[in-house]
Amino acid sequence: MPAAARSRRREAGLDDVEVAGRRVLLRVDFNVPLGPDGRLRDDTRIRASLPTIEELRRREARTVVLTHLGRPQGRVDPALGVAPLARRLAELIGAAVPTAPDCVGEAARRAVGGTPPGGVVLLENLRFHPGEEANDPAFARALADLGDLVVNDAFGAAHRAHASIVGLAERLPAVAGRLMAEELDRLGALLSDPARPLVAVVGGSKLSTKLGLLTHLMGRVDALCLGGAMASTFLVAAGAEVGTSLTEPDAVDRAADLVRSATTHGVDLRLPVDVVVAPEPGAPAEAIGHCDVRAIPADRMLLDIGRATVAAWRPLLAGAGTVVWNGPLGLYERPAFAAGTRGVAEAILSGHATTVIGGGDLAAALRQLGLLQRFDHVSTGGGATLEFLEGRTLPGVAALRQVGDPALRPPRGPAPVPATPTRPAPPP
Ligand code: 3PG
Repeated sequence: MPAAARSRRREAGLDDVEVAGRRVLLRVDFNVPLGPDGRLRDDTRIRASLPTIEELRRREARTVVLTHLGRPQGRVDPALGVAPLARRLAELIGAAVPTAPDCVGEAARRAVGGTPPGGVVLLENLRFHPGEEANDPAFARALADLGDLVVNDAFGAAHRAHASIVGLAERLPAVAGRLMAEELDRLGALLSDPARPLVAVVGGSKLSTKLGLLTHLMGRVDALCLGGAMASTFLVAAGAEVGTSLTEPDAVDRAADLVRSATTHGVDLRLPVDVVVAPEPGAPAEAIGHCDVRAIPADRMLLDIGRATVAAWRPLLAGAGTVVWNGPLGLYERPAFAAGTRGVAEAILSGHATTVIGGGDLAAALRQLGLLQRFDHVSTGGGATLEFLEGRTLPGVAALRQVGDPALRPPRGPAPVPATPTRPAPPP
């Protein structure tokens, strides 16, 4: 771990607490994609919390796993129950993971009571209760009743001020799990003391969702490469005609401001110089073309960055000390529009940069291309990673105890057993 990352971290973690025999409420983000058949389509977030779960088991904690899944709007939705998560977790840890039909109340209490040291139980979806998203004090209290200590590994949900993230941590001491700590180290080091040059690559479809990120990065990065559909709004700001490309007219002025800001900050801002175009995303192969950004036909839309763009960015990416990348650079789901994302990934990997990937779409794109595991850190957060990189304080991080907090002192154990039985005092 780089020294800068170590010195930045102040949040207490698993090394700062005794967990043996204690009821540990482990908040995870197992909000994974499910297929129409209810099966897990991707278990990355479950795997990412395994180091914490395995450690809690080894250290004989009674682990009570709490998660949300989807957005059931405070109502019970059988399609969003945690059973498939428990099955997958049980396979991964090679031990039974019972579930409870509710995350609070008598059923939850019974399930927790039946969990032995080293055991794991998964409670039902937190968001089946409206109190979770409302950070309702009564709901937070009901959760707190179930445990002695909170370990928060849900970096992906740390931007949500929900009951299991904030309210619970006001009632029980909360520390970071291994995944949370790693995310904070890796992303924190990016903002505080990155190896230079620091290059950001930002893609994706909607510029409006990335304005905060781009504004914050502007004063920090040495270079910024912009691709994906959102680049078309920058091209419009630069006076180009972009045909039928997806653009956000309301964001054109902000794009122009960002271009000016890059000049002020001495940031090497790169837009695509050529693009892959088609009449529409599903167009037949013979309708897919390639052109200079100054010559996009009126009836074509931008669907990927082109070869010349990748070639122009390559020296910058290969020579970077750190690369942070958020958002795919084309409509990667279709192989014809995935070459830009692949080319940029290969250019980055040809160098020696520390690499950080943010956002589920980009992770999915790189996984599809078979390149994901070659990057140093793949953040499990979507919105949380963006907000962290925008420089915002995440409520779930602010709620964690700091190292040295007196509330984290080891709990007093049972009263010591006297060496010789004490005789009851004789009646007076
Ligand atoms: C995510 O998937 O980004 C987190 O699990 C948060 O989910 P939410 O956006 O539904 O709050």
